[in-house]
Amino acid sequence: MKSQILEILRNSNTYVSGQELCDKFGVSRTAVWKAINGLKEQGYEIEAVQNKGYRLVAAPDVLNQIELESIRKTDWAGCEVHYYDTIDSTNTEVQRLANAGAPHGTLVVANQQTAGKGRRGRTWISPTGVNVYFSLLLRPEINPNNASRLTLVAALALGNAIRELSGADVKIKWPNDIVINGKKICGILTEMSIQEDYISHIVVGMGINVHQKEFAEEIQDMASSIELETGESVSRAGLVERTMEYFEKFYEIYLQTEDLSALVKLYNSMLVSMHNDVRVLDPKEPFEGKAMGITAKGELIVDTWESRKLVSSGEVSVRGLYGYV
Ligand code: BTN
Repeated sequence: MKSQILEILRNSNTYVSGQELCDKFGVSRTAVWKAINGLKEQGYEIEAVQNKGYRLVAAPDVLNQIELESIRKTDWAGCEVHYYDTIDSTNTEVQRLANAGAPHGTLVVANQQTAGKGRRGRTWISPTGVNVYFSLLLRPEINPNNASRLTLVAALALGNAIRELSGADVKIKWPNDIVINGKKICGILTEMSIQEDYISHIVVGMGINVHQKEFAEEIQDMASSIELETGESVSRAGLVERTMEYFEKFYEIYLQTEDLSALVKLYNSMLVSMHNDVRVLDPKEPFEGKAMGITAKGELIVDTWESRKLVSSGEVSVRGLYGYV
């Protein structure tokens, strides 16, 4: 009931009478009053005026189950939301839920991770209260060879959501880092479970540095947060919701062809290294060239003096000639 009351207050630009809430939920005035008090305890500023009712004055950056459910606007992404104050890893939790039969669109969100996973076996440091960590369960009927492209779809969704909510000039560092002012503010980890030769499920995990002010010395030159780079304090639940809305949109487009053909233009417009010189850290043979955008398969097109090369993600990193981007 709390999340529904919150939704009603949020959608109303005037007072909502206590009686109206009693009638809607078939409960007593005391029950409504208790629910309102519960919301206030969680940080919502709710004004109560006699003979008028309740009005939501402010919803600070509250991240919890009720908030996430009350702002949800998607069709299927986040159809089931599981919120945790602390969890080992949202990706791992989605794996567990998937193995127990959770549906496509299940979303796990956390305020802190104790065993956050990064790409290439790295750890994703996940402090409490400042960032948001979330993972989405997908059960697509697609060719497993085309699944890694979903990471680029997620990058587009995150990039657009952050751009919209913070107003920043958000860019993508191929294949899937989100950067503002040349610094990484998000990471994406996609994990796939295959049975025989079909996909049992895919987990798309996303971590956004939202308000974090301090970073470990070894990463502070390349990592940052939305607030540090823009001065804007963006709502974490809002970021999750908007990312899910964009994800649904881009995912439907991706599914039509199982590639990025209809998304290449948008992706290239956000590519931080577009038309810039890059160094491709290929373990076999590193090389330099000019980044010319991506292919429909999600490869990075790099023009060298001699030829045009297509770089697949995986073990290859790409850097700017003078730093991280
Ligand atoms: C990277 O190395 O850039 C990818 C980092 C991905 C981190 C996110 S946080 C939410 C989800 N759960 C995890 O354990 N990892 C991903």
